Amino acid sequence: MTTPTWFLRRLHALDDRKIDELVDVLIDCVAGGASVSFMHPLTRDRALAFWRRVAQGVAAGERALLVAEDSQGLCGTVQLVLNQPENQPHRADLAKMLVRRRSRRQGLGAALMRAAETTARECGKTLLVLDAVSDGDAARLYERPGWVRVGEIPDYALLPQGGLCGTTVYYRQLGG
Ligand SMILES: CC(C)(COP(=O)(O)OP(=O)(O)OC[C@H]1O[C@@H](n2cnc3c(N)ncnc32)[C@H](O)[C@@H]1OP(=O)(O)O)[C@@H](O)C(=O)NCCC(=O)NCCS
Repeated sequence: MTTPTWFLRRLHALDDRKIDELVDVLIDCVAGGASVSFMHPLTRDRALAFWRRVAQGVAAGERALLVAEDSQGLCGTVQLVLNQPENQPHRADLAKMLVRRRSRRQGLGAALMRAAETTARECGKTLLVLDAVSDGDAARLYERPGWVRVGEIPDYALLPQGGLCGTTVYYRQLGG
């Protein structure tokens, strides 16, 4: 087994440089066909507006943001939406799992999942929910022990280059 070349950490604030690197990751993923709320081509301005909103949520403690960095910079990220309705304080949504194409298939996605679950526990969360494009790379990542497939909503969203895709909803209970 090779030693990971990245390190993971939670960011509690985002400066302009970090936001810029997150913009690069998002644009790279959308250009690669990832269905993550945006259409291709994703302009820098649109990506910047998205990450600035995320930065506000992170600063307010409404979101937990994890990033992975290697010698070339930021290569992966995932978020937990901590701020939930008052009757669901124990839940978080796992969102925007993004790994740059150059860093894929080395275990980084799985490492981000483990780190997100640990962070969720640290935040007192006992239930995680997420959705992912059906039958894609991400769905395989989530279909691991512990994550339960709820079901599929067909024709839920457009792929970045057009064409409808289904989404599959998963949850995980963080026991113990
Ligand atoms: C989904 C995504 C996050 C996965 O990231 P990743 O870093 O490639 O994930 P991993 O490396 O942990 O696992 C991916 C695959 O590589 C394999 N793998 C892991 N380490 C490996 C290694 N050292 N050598 C060879 N293969 C390896 C895994 O077994 C897995 O195999 P699978 O495709 O058969 O399931 C990434 O593809 C991505 O960012 N996609 C675009 C954005 C997206 O769709 N996000 C999800 C939104 S819901």
